[in-house]
Amino acid sequence: MGLVTGTCFAETGNHVVCVDINAEKVRMMRSGKVPIYEPHLDVIFERNIRQGRLHFTTDLKEAVDHAEIIFLALPTPPGEDGSADLSYVLKAAGDIGRLLKRYTVLVDKSTVPVGTAEKVHAEVAKYAQVEFDVVSNPEFLREGFAVDDFLKPDRVVVGTSSERARKLMEDLYKPFVRQGNPIIFMDERSAELTKYAANAFLAAKITFMNEIANFCEAVGADVDKVRIGMGTDSRIGKRFLFPGIGYGGSCFPKDVQALAKSGAEAGYEFRIINSVMEVNERQKTALMPKIIDYYGGDIKGRHFALWGLAFKPDTDDIREAPALYMIEALTKAGATVTAFDPEAMGNVEKLIGDKIAYAKDEYAALQGADALIICTEWALFRTPDFGRLEQALKEKTVFDGRNLYELDEMTGHGFHYVSIGRNVVTAAHSPAHTRTANA
Ligand SMILES: NC(=O)c1ccc[n+]([C@@H]2O[C@H](COP(=O)([O-])OP(=O)(O)OC[C@H]3O[C@@H](n4cnc5c(N)ncnc54)[C@H](O)[C@@H]3O)[C@@H](O)[C@H]2O)c1
Repeated sequence: MGLVTGTCFAETGNHVVCVDINAEKVRMMRSGKVPIYEPHLDVIFERNIRQGRLHFTTDLKEAVDHAEIIFLALPTPPGEDGSADLSYVLKAAGDIGRLLKRYTVLVDKSTVPVGTAEKVHAEVAKYAQVEFDVVSNPEFLREGFAVDDFLKPDRVVVGTSSERARKLMEDLYKPFVRQGNPIIFMDERSAELTKYAANAFLAAKITFMNEIANFCEAVGADVDKVRIGMGTDSRIGKRFLFPGIGYGGSCFPKDVQALAKSGAEAGYEFRIINSVMEVNERQKTALMPKIIDYYGGDIKGRHFALWGLAFKPDTDDIREAPALYMIEALTKAGATVTAFDPEAMGNVEKLIGDKIAYAKDEYAALQGADALIICTEWALFRTPDFGRLEQALKEKTVFDGRNLYELDEMTGHGFHYVSIGRNVVTAAHSPAHTRTANA
């Protein structure tokens, strides 16, 4: 988030110094390499470095010395009890406080619980000899669309009680809202909560649909029909209604948990949020009972091809990815897995090594597998060559956690097809289990 923020601010003509304690990352960026996969970031990253507006350092002093505005884009991971761990943010605040030489605005861009701006203010004030303001400016960009989202935000939320800081933030963000989208000013606490409320609402919307999908399976309805029927109501909207094997990523799980924890700390029990977490936890392995059932209660010795490791398409981020939960469940049950993901295999290999095998492309992953399991809806997987699937798989069986294919399309191709919230289909002329290996 910090790199996208810094690069996009450079793109509108600002001079930006990005600071990171990870020397390897800084070395990479200095040599002109973007350390994450994020569409379109490379182009503006290179341009702004070339034009001298974007710099990287591990030296906080070098960056603070010339800064008018300092963005804190630090990690806020879940602490042991699920609340947001503010140690990175508060440590940096203290370090910055010692270095300030003139009026500066510190901006909390990390996702932080209500009251953090006051904590950051107190931490900086312990050391600062000059005037400063602390502003809350939560970030709503989505991984995979981060650059577009940052350059053309639906809205910018700024929490501040300082007129001076408000003016600086308004000038900074004006170039991004020329189409008329609002910069919404409010108090710091409301700004902090806006981010959590937005993420929790979206996580609840996904989870609600997953429950409807599970119920569809119980009563023989088709969730994709229900989704379209619901989504055309403008009060509901078409987006975020796709059922699947749960939400993951670095934001929704941690933010939903942190909001529940903030609620508990304030003596408020968030019942909806608690249910969202519980249902999502179950949903991540919702395919498992279906797989085990299909193989008569035992998948020991079975081998599966798995498409998609990233928590969603167009990113190499695997934090809290449902695919990892599937891999854990499959291998624990005695199965083996060969996976393919266009961007995330390196990160998975770093995390779990040779617990699974990695394929060079989506078709190589299928070789000799009993069935294909789909965990992430990369566009690449949407229109596969079904003939190659048939050749490589032992059986024409697909377990799809993202509902990528039409049911009649799959029966047409002669597949046994299990998805989320829809009927299981089996081609009439090719019932499950009738094909033998290499047949
Ligand atoms: N990833 C997103 O899509 C997204 C979107 C909106 C908000 N956020 C929020 O932004 C924050 C950061 O998330 P992220 O996904 O970018 O995390 P990240 O882990 O990818 O990046 C954080 C960076 O901070 C660096 N860092 C740690 N301690 C440091 C220090 N003392 N000084 C300098 N650098 C330090 C780390 O080395 C790392 O490169 C979180 O609060 C997250 O909730 C993220």
